[in-house]
Formats: sequence, C-alpha cells, structure tokens
Amino acid sequence: AVADTYADPVHIAVIGGTGLQHLPHFEHVATLNVSTPWGAPSSPISILHHPSPTSGRQVPIAFLSRHGLHHELAPHEVPNRANIAALRSLGVRTIIAFSAVGSLREEIKPRDFVVPDQIIDRTKGVRPFTFFEGGFVGHVGFGDPFDEGLAKVVRKCGHSLEGEGVRLHDKGVVICMEGPQFSTRAESNMYRSWGGSVINMSALPEAKLAREAEIAYQMICMSTDYDCWHETEDVNVAMVMANMTANAKNARHFVGAVLDELTKEEHGQQVLAKHLEGQSKFCVSTNEA
Ligand code: ADE
Repeated sequence: AVADTYADPVHIAVIGGTGLQHLPHFEHVATLNVSTPWGAPSSPISILHHPSPTSGRQVPIAFLSRHGLHHELAPHEVPNRANIAALRSLGVRTIIAFSAVGSLREEIKPRDFVVPDQIIDRTKGVRPFTFFEGGFVGHVGFGDPFDEGLAKVVRKCGHSLEGEGVRLHDKGVVICMEGPQFSTRAESNMYRSWGGSVINMSALPEAKLAREAEIAYQMICMSTDYDCWHETEDVNVAMVMANMTANAKNARHFVGAVLDELTKEEHGQQVLAKHLEGQSKFCVSTNEA
C-alpha cells in the first residue's frame, strides 16, 4: 500500500497539465492530502521516488495534476494558490510545469515542445493571483518569469531526446489567456503580431505565485494545435487531446530526462532557487497577518 505521509522534505515537483494527469513508470511511495490556508490543491500530491543517476539515492519528487485527477477543473477553477502553497509546504524549491498549448507560429508544429522564456498576461484578473494581500504586502520582480538556470537544464534534456523524436524550441513567448473559450481569429492574429509563440490558459497565475514563493519555475509547453489563425482546422478539444495522447510517451521521456539531471548531486536541489531567496518574505502560515 502507498503511504499517506512522507517524512523527508521534497525539493522537486512536476505539475502535470492536460494529458499528463499521472506519471506512470515511477515508483509511487506516498499520496498526500495537503491542506493550506488557501484550501486544498487540485489533486492529492503523489510522492514518487526517482533514483539519482550519480549517487543511486532515491530522490523524492512531488507530482500534482493541475486539472485534478480526472480533469475536472477548468483553467479558471484551478486553485493555484493552494497548489503552490502545498508544494512549498513540502519543501519544494523547483517546479517543472507541463502545459498543452496552441501554436501561433508556423514553425512550431503540433507535438513540438517549447521551453518559453516570456509570458504575456491575457487573464482577466478573476483568478486569485497573489499571496500578498490582507496586510501582507510584497512585490517580486517578474522581468524574467521563468528560471534561466532551470531552463538551461530543460533545454539540454529536450535536445538529448531529439533522436527519439522530441522536437524542441528553445525560446518562446506564451500568451496566457483567460478561457475557457478559445480565442477569436482576430485575437489570434493580434497575438501573432505581438510576437506570441504559443497560447495557453495555465501559465498564470501559477508562474507568479511560484516566484512569490521563491520557487524556481519553468514551464514545458507541448503544442497541440494551430489555434484558429492557420489555414488548417480550428482548435477543438478532440484535437488537443489526440495530440497530447499521441505525444504522452515523449512527454514522459522528457520528464524522466529532466529528473535525471535535476537529481544529480551537483544540482544540490536547493541551489537552483538560491538566487530567489529574500525576493519575498513567503510564509505559508501567515494568511492571518
Ligand atoms: N491549449 C491548447 N491549445 C490552446 C489554444 N489554442 N488556446 C488556448 N489554450 C490552448
């Protein structure tokens, strides 16, 4: 049986998006029902054991399914603050977040991966988007919304899988829209004119909250469609799901390669988030401040 507690701190987390609700092939050692001052996270948190390729030591990895275990949460219903606070309370300082995206560029083909370096916020301000309120004031830098150290690791791992059919774009601008409806064609063309590379409904406020919580965060996008600007068929849910499913094996290989790299002793797991320390004064128990 799988335990319902885990005694050691967990430094690394994977957030799975649409089509990546589970991480099979990993040793599942615990399922944690974490509660936070912001409520319960999207799903119970699975603790998986990943052997470090350098020491052979089993390194715990937290896995959280963003849309719930059965994809029951729409993008605007995802309890982002609870998700980030729950992971932080376990000790997480590094997050790899997966997301299905629409492509706004001809060269980003369906099933290609993108490691984005920028975000444009097109959410509508209806999602709770900060830990800093109610007398608890903080401002964090967000000029580079993703963690460059983590991005370098992810890009290297992605390219190492090119022989297995992983196609990777090293940079990109994510447009994060509110949804749950897809964009109009005029919007899609406007985003292209803004320099958008891909579009999703999940990068924000997740990335902002991770920054407030001093967690190094990098999203890995997987293209599932050409949105509605392209001459091919407009995006629909069946198309998104079919491409995600068809590419799930590549996504799992990608996660495995990134976890191999992150669990090498040289990364020390905490080191990646060191430069974020002191940016904010984050404390999970301070909501009554
Ligand atoms: N997720 C996957 N495809 C998308 C699209 N075209 N627009 C917004 N989010 C998406």
